[in-house]
Amino acid sequence: MSKVLVVGSINMDLVAQVDQFPRLGETLFGRSFKTYHGGKGANQAVAASRLGAEVTMIGRVGDDAFGQELTASLIAEGVNTEWIQRSANTTSGIAMITLAGSDNAIIVVPGANADLSVEDLLAAENAFRDCDVVIAQFESPLATIEMAAQLAQSHGKPFILNPAPAMPLSPALLAQVALLTPNEFELSIALGTPENEWQAALQQYPGQILMTAGKDGVWYTTESGELRQQTSFNVNAVDTTGAGDTFNGALAAFWHLGLSEASRIACAAGALSVTRAGAQGGMPTLAELNSFLAGDTK
Ligand code: RIB
Ligand code: NA
Repeated sequence: MSKVLVVGSINMDLVAQVDQFPRLGETLFGRSFKTYHGGKGANQAVAASRLGAEVTMIGRVGDDAFGQELTASLIAEGVNTEWIQRSANTTSGIAMITLAGSDNAIIVVPGANADLSVEDLLAAENAFRDCDVVIAQFESPLATIEMAAQLAQSHGKPFILNPAPAMPLSPALLAQVALLTPNEFELSIALGTPENEWQAALQQYPGQILMTAGKDGVWYTTESGELRQQTSFNVNAVDTTGAGDTFNGALAAFWHLGLSEASRIACAAGALSVTRAGAQGGMPTLAELNSFLAGDTK
């Protein structure tokens, strides 16, 4: 199995379930409140680890109870946490998530994630040397992501960038990316192109961009510029939080199989993830994924 290095965020998700989203100034009663382990980086690490990849994560938590719990949960998931540091006098990252049906609205407070530095990555350079693929997201400081791209490149490792949450992308960073994995909105922000012109954007960067499209699966172009769709799998959605992260973690875990096969497997993993509550709930093990794929006729 492949060795995946994740550079990214670790959050505690504070999730309130409601019947509808509140309007500005409105107070609503929620149905339930739960905490879940989250953060795009940690979610992608857990997704890859459950699927059998050997995963190392570089990140930061705060010196609070959330930080202890989040680190312990990553260890329990089999993730190497040697390079996860604790920031003094800082809270762990949190995400306030409002769930209405299977839709969500999220506020992220980075806390210790904002401290993840270029120096942290340089100190962990051995992890770049000792992996097959590097994946990062936009919940960490941009300079840190840029250093991750650079270290991946200098060690000859493919760099997958999940540009979420949405942020403009510099041509210099894009040039170092083996695969960019935005959704439609993130793609338009990343490249500064209109949302409805995503096909042209994909064709402009053959083999380099894969766009996730929720229920429509994913779209990407081959190296020769041919547009391809991997359709999604039908499941009963309970909570779509973390579906994109599951897709990305699985894609990194199966990177060695090539984009077409890796994205089919990753779509299946993403589909399974939404069948249970919480970003990491529902992320399949390799055995669960295999039996799901065996029962599929597509
Ligand atoms: O992608 C889902 C994640 O985004 C959640 O787990 C939450 O922590 C936010 O960072
Ligand atoms: Na889930």
